[in-house]
Amino acid sequence: MKRRIGILTSGGDCPGLNAAIRGVARSAYELFDAEIIGIRNGYGGLIDGECQEMSKKQFSGILTLGGTILGTSRTPFRYMQVVDENTGIDKVAAMKKTYRDMKLDCLVTLGGNGTHKTANLLAQEGLNVIGLPKTIDNDLYGTDYTFGFHTAMDIATEVIDRIHTTATSHGRCMVIEIMGNKVGWLTLFSGIAGGADVILIPEIPYDIKRVAETVETRAKSKKAFSIIAVAEGALSAEEAKMKKKEREAYRASLPYDCISKRIAAQLQEMVGVEARHVVPGHIQRGGSPSAYDRILATQFGVHAAELIRDEVYGVTVALSGNQIIHNRLGDIAGVPKPVPRDDTMIQTARNIGINLGD
Ligand code: F6P
Repeated sequence: MKRRIGILTSGGDCPGLNAAIRGVARSAYELFDAEIIGIRNGYGGLIDGECQEMSKKQFSGILTLGGTILGTSRTPFRYMQVVDENTGIDKVAAMKKTYRDMKLDCLVTLGGNGTHKTANLLAQEGLNVIGLPKTIDNDLYGTDYTFGFHTAMDIATEVIDRIHTTATSHGRCMVIEIMGNKVGWLTLFSGIAGGADVILIPEIPYDIKRVAETVETRAKSKKAFSIIAVAEGALSAEEAKMKKKEREAYRASLPYDCISKRIAAQLQEMVGVEARHVVPGHIQRGGSPSAYDRILATQFGVHAAELIRDEVYGVTVALSGNQIIHNRLGDIAGVPKPVPRDDTMIQTARNIGINLGD
């Protein structure tokens, strides 16, 4: 049996992409007569026909490598079905043409929410598509974890650890802004792992007075410092009541370019402590994947090759408990996965006295 497999990575990169690419390739070479076509820079490359047949040795030595050897780009789903004004390119038709021109039997797309929405669209258009869930945000419905998440959690935890020592020395209040887009998984997990005193996530709008109480109590105690882990998407209780546009206008009226800066300034003013904010940003997405992510990405890649062998398409690979499963793209694409209010990790945080701002 011969299969020509197109593979692309789309959306924000994360550690583990190369491990997953390698998992697909090595397993495909083992299981059947595979030819692998690397598509450059995500869906952009599929639209523009930027593809290249890859050799076996190109998948060697990449397990531990961060980023993606294929390159990536963000091509927002909302523009996928819109004909480009300048070039007149019909993106969906162009992607289907590349698929046909390259004589692909299937397409493996590694990505997060946006990637899966386009993957689902292409499956509806008749292409054989398999998704692999990656993102440091862990916000993909249908899988317990995405690869990339654990590495980012390790990095964010190390940031909190390092901030801890300087916070202790100076008796300062340190506000650390963690990535995660609109969800709080990364902040919640790294906040607990790093021993944060306060964790603020978008799913639980915060009251700054509640946060100030913890900082004040600590400032008066022997442990004068405080560590606050705040998700980049966190919202105050007032903001949570606003419509998106109103909230954007409100934020634009404030003299802060990020949430951590604003919270640090508010706490300095309200409690009289010395406060600083830290934004580790893309460091959280960089570098080599953790052992956990190498394994998860490899397992996902291997499962994708098995699906290709069995000609099961229109699905995305997922982790459920300790099983690798697959879900129909149509069932998961575009479905959000916020941290549930009754999540066990929320309860864990509360039970060890972490202030969640509510
Ligand atoms: O989705 C991954 C992520 O790192 C988010 O946590 C963050 O909000 C966003 O991407 C940043 O996007 P960009 O890399 O395009 O600045």
